[in-house]
Amino acid sequence: MKVIFFLLLANFACPLWAQSAANVPKAAQKTNAAEGLMQIKGFQIVQSREGQCTLCHQIPNHKGVMGNLGPALDGVAHRLNEEQLRLRLSDSRKINPLTIMPPYFSTEKLDHVDPKFAGKTLLNASEFEEVIAYLKTLQ
Ligand code: HEC
Repeated sequence: MKVIFFLLLANFACPLWAQSAANVPKAAQKTNAAEGLMQIKGFQIVQSREGQCTLCHQIPNHKGVMGNLGPALDGVAHRLNEEQLRLRLSDSRKINPLTIMPPYFSTEKLDHVDPKFAGKTLLNASEFEEVIAYLKTLQ
């Protein structure tokens, strides 16, 4: 009884505290919604013709056929941190010069590029971020 009274009193006596406590979940929801959208877009890119990731990688919940030239990506965020994921997605040649994985965010040392794509990265900056957001969910 005493505890309940104290809590009630604390709530009335500290409107600021009560207000900030009420606001936190709302703010968190906003970020989660934005993050959720990024992750969904990333999932779509990974499965798309533009991403082509599923030509070489198995990913969870993809309905189509998947290749196995690269490692399955289930649990990849558990094995690699964000920085390591960024490095691999942007330019895996920096880790393995003989890799077959395309450098998704680099324009360096690319041969036989169609002039209309010259100087462009395979993924644009926001697509790159969306794929990273998705990869981070693969715990
Ligand atoms: C042509 C085949 C190919 C494509 C397409 C490809 N990858 Fe890869 N990927 C590989 C190979 C092979 C490796 C293994 C490391 C190496 O040889 O460089 C790899 C490694 C990785 C790794 C590190 C995995 C680990 O467990 O260490 C990640 C993450 C990754 N790829 C993500 C992607 C994403 C996301 C896409 C699409 C945007 C993609 N890959 C497209 C072939 C590919």
